[in-house]
Amino acid sequence: FGEQPLRGRTVVVSAGPTYEDIDPVRFIGNRSSGRMGFAVAAAARDAGADVTLIAGPVSLPTPPGIRRVDVRSARQMHDAVLAAAEHADIYVGAAAVGDYRPDVEAAHKLKKADGAPLRIELIENPDIIATLSTRPSRPFLVGFAAETRELAGYAQDKLRRKRIDMIAANEVGEGKGFEVANNALHLYWPDGDATLPEMPKTELARRLVACIAERFLSGTGR
Ligand code: C5P
Repeated sequence: FGEQPLRGRTVVVSAGPTYEDIDPVRFIGNRSSGRMGFAVAAAARDAGADVTLIAGPVSLPTPPGIRRVDVRSARQMHDAVLAAAEHADIYVGAAAVGDYRPDVEAAHKLKKADGAPLRIELIENPDIIATLSTRPSRPFLVGFAAETRELAGYAQDKLRRKRIDMIAANEVGEGKGFEVANNALHLYWPDGDATLPEMPKTELARRLVACIAERFLSGTGR
């Protein structure tokens, strides 16, 4: 970033999984490592932005020069992102937010019940990026779409349904996407798209931030 395209801008990035507690010792989580989001946060910092990183439970060091807020559940991430994004220019939702949570969290460890099935009712979590998109002065919104099939169709549908400005789609499963160092992305925005071929997540994040800066700045007319 020779000329630091995001100098003076505020960027909020969410990263990692969320954990939805079932009881004091069990939870529902997912395989997001947080690496892509952490790399995006570092790349946005290098592009000159003031960066806040909202991190789910991950074991990654905080990139220097970044404000980090740790959360656990989707609802905690929702609250932290909404607070941080209020005056932000750009929000990048790289977190793999749990879609559902147990409707009640047991106060004590659940016990086996003589072979009877255990039923846990799951209720929907709020959609963080879709909530942000309804705000009157909303940041430029970038979502991620991790799909195991029909990448383009689901990604473009997500872009429209969530009313966001860009979606970064990647294939997951079988050594792709989660828990690996390399990734490839296909970017979609309302009137265009771009392919970022497979490369290390750190480099991919820099290319992604360059594309975000370009779309964001063309939207603000600067
Ligand atoms: O619908 P899906 O979860 O696949 O969409 C992924 C995108 O939506 C990601 O950017 C993710 O961070 C965001 N998301 C969210 N709140 C949720 C679920 C997903 O912000 N509850």
